[in-house]
Amino acid sequence: MSKVKIGFFDSGIGGISVLSYARRRLPGADYIYYADTDHVPYGTKRRAEIIRYSDAAVGFLARQGVSAVVVACNTATSMAITYLREKYPFPIIGMEPAVKPAAAAHPGANILVCATPVTIAGEKLHTLIEHNYTSDDFPDLVGLPELVTFAENGIFDCETVCGYLETVIDRTKNYAAVVLGCTHFGYFRDSFRKLLGDVDLIDGTQGTVNRLISILSQNGIDVPDEPGSTAFYQTGRPVADPAVLAYYDQLLIRSEILK
Ligand code: DGL
Repeated sequence: MSKVKIGFFDSGIGGISVLSYARRRLPGADYIYYADTDHVPYGTKRRAEIIRYSDAAVGFLARQGVSAVVVACNTATSMAITYLREKYPFPIIGMEPAVKPAAAAHPGANILVCATPVTIAGEKLHTLIEHNYTSDDFPDLVGLPELVTFAENGIFDCETVCGYLETVIDRTKNYAAVVLGCTHFGYFRDSFRKLLGDVDLIDGTQGTVNRLISILSQNGIDVPDEPGSTAFYQTGRPVADPAVLAYYDQLLIRSEILK
């Protein structure tokens, strides 16, 4: 029996945090991770460009014979998911900022939603908020594009990151929860905690992987038990450099540790 292949796609390293959790839940699948390193960041680009790059990524994964694709990028989901689902025949699982679980866990409390500028301005997020909050209770929204730049440049130290965060987040609001609405932001959980104390950091990783598992089962796609493989690509080019592969391995581990 040939193994089930699952494609993951993000503009860069953010989706590796989602891949990390998927590998723990479904260790028997073969994973193909596509980082669009030639075009990162997406979060400050125009819709047409994001659709074009997302189409190229999913088209590449389709040619590798994937059974499903996880768009492990809130920005690409916000701008391109409808287009992708209409074009490709396999299930495509997207990611949205976890505003619903945040509202359920902290009714009436101050909540901050962080994402890229494109996701923050996008209609999808505003519709999601209107469905899950009353108008006198809307969460605050903030775009944090600099965190994507930090992550892509391997800058994770709390001093630099907290220095930036304190210029854009109002600490006097005493947020009960922060929604991490960009997959790059999960790598900075320690900085958010250092700045905001005992705050609930909520992301969409678990919900997305739960959805992947239920969609695979609804489509009769079985994942075998023997351990699967993971291959990485940068804008369609296979990653073979041992230093880059070792770095991606570290990120897989960092995603586990920082949960
Ligand atoms: N990781 C992506 C997200 O979840 C976007 C980062 C970027 O390319 O700006 O939105």
